Amino acid sequence: MAAVVVVGTQWGDEGKGKYIDILSADADYVVRFSGGNNAGHTIVHDGVKYALHLVPSGILRKGKTCIIANGVVIDPAVLISELNNLSKYDNELAELIISDRAHVIMPWHIELDSLQESYRGNAGLGTTRRGIGPAYADKAERSGIRMCDLMDPDLFREMVHSTIKVKNAIIEKVYGGKPLDAEKIIDDYLGYAEKLRPYVRDVNSIIHRAIENGKTVLFEGAQATFLDLDFGTYPYVTSSNPIAGGVCTGAGVGPKMITEILGVFKAYTSRVGSGPFVTELNNEVGNQIRELGHEYGTTTGRPRRCGWLDVVMLKYAARLNSLTGLCLNHLDTVGKLDSIKICMAYKLDGKIIDYYPSNLKELARCEPVYEEFESWKDIDISKVNRYEMLPPAAKKYLKRIEESIGVPIKYVGVGPGREQVITM
Ligand code: GDP
Ligand code: IMO
Ligand code: MG
Repeated sequence: MAAVVVVGTQWGDEGKGKYIDILSADADYVVRFSGGNNAGHTIVHDGVKYALHLVPSGILRKGKTCIIANGVVIDPAVLISELNNLSKYDNELAELIISDRAHVIMPWHIELDSLQESYRGNAGLGTTRRGIGPAYADKAERSGIRMCDLMDPDLFREMVHSTIKVKNAIIEKVYGGKPLDAEKIIDDYLGYAEKLRPYVRDVNSIIHRAIENGKTVLFEGAQATFLDLDFGTYPYVTSSNPIAGGVCTGAGVGPKMITEILGVFKAYTSRVGSGPFVTELNNEVGNQIRELGHEYGTTTGRPRRCGWLDVVMLKYAARLNSLTGLCLNHLDTVGKLDSIKICMAYKLDGKIIDYYPSNLKELARCEPVYEEFESWKDIDISKVNRYEMLPPAAKKYLKRIEESIGVPIKYVGVGPGREQVITM
């Protein structure tokens, strides 16, 4: 029996999709448990790049089952378009199942996400404007619409009519926006409902049966620890719980059923959107990392902010997620720099601190304490597939990371491809 959780340990885009794709070769099920199409997970297979937003990253494995669980918020138009894009690989695809308890992103969520961001101006959170925050807010407020409601045309129609009154009042009277047309929304969404109906069912029983029958289930995290609603750099976070605990509520799995928790990170740090970033590099090295690592958003195309690896964050992530193993990516990218730095501690007002500040003003005052490492600029490691073949400087760098976090590194990425991974 194996229930393996894969989570992001930084601010997202660590390469979770790549590891899910690789690990799904030996799994039976892949389950997305949180977030929505704010996620952008990249898989590179035979030189072809696939960007997935809602469909789990095990989809390119025929014979496996991919599940979108209750904790995900689903924009049906985006999901259908993603399925259409994948349809040319029809013979190579895994089966897809969608939870009837997952909440639906409605046009008012997208509209309000955008209006709220514009209203905040310079103080904006830098959301993806995909309606994620408003959809989760409605779920908590108990005015959300679930997939099972969408599958019931009469009920859905009623729910749209009763909800849209309040939403249009806010759109028009608070933000000065244009009201939405209920009949058009009902028409569009009932069309989506018919396309998605074959996939929608109760998934919790399927996940439980799989684990009880000794199958391997992979839980695919979206977003990351420092975007977590409770433990991230609030309010510059997403509106769900991407940490490993999110699997329990997002897929209905008890904590004792989880057997392994892998934390994915890049050999540097990146962030899209606003919020504090202690090791950010607003200089030539930051630009170099962005270009070498192709750090442009998979979902919005925005340039990602880049900086050095931050072990203070990773140690905190190891604790919050109970990490049993680490998956490092972009060892190839940092090797191309003149030298590499790792932030080992934070200094706040002249003193080393042993916690991750919740107060963002305090966090902004933290100064990184760096250790510097030699790079291996003249050696191309992108085809290395065994640890022994890595240059000594890369080995020294990996050892220092592992010992400072206190969690074993299980996999090392040396390129975006499925095969560009060293198993430790
Ligand atoms: P996710 O959201 O965590 O799945 O990550 P993204 O797909 O948004 O971003 C990760 C980016 O890094 C993608 O463009 C990947 O193809 C790329 N990538 C992943 N691992 C490696 C690696 O080891 N080396 C290099 N050069 N690129 C990688
Ligand atoms: P993956 O799964 C990176 C960021 C947004 C913004 C904040 C809130 O690809 O790692 P939201 O639209 O969720 O309300 O935006 O969270 N964000 C991500 N950043 N990777 C992601 O997903 C992200 N999902 C959300 O940029 O700062
Ligand atoms: Mg991403």
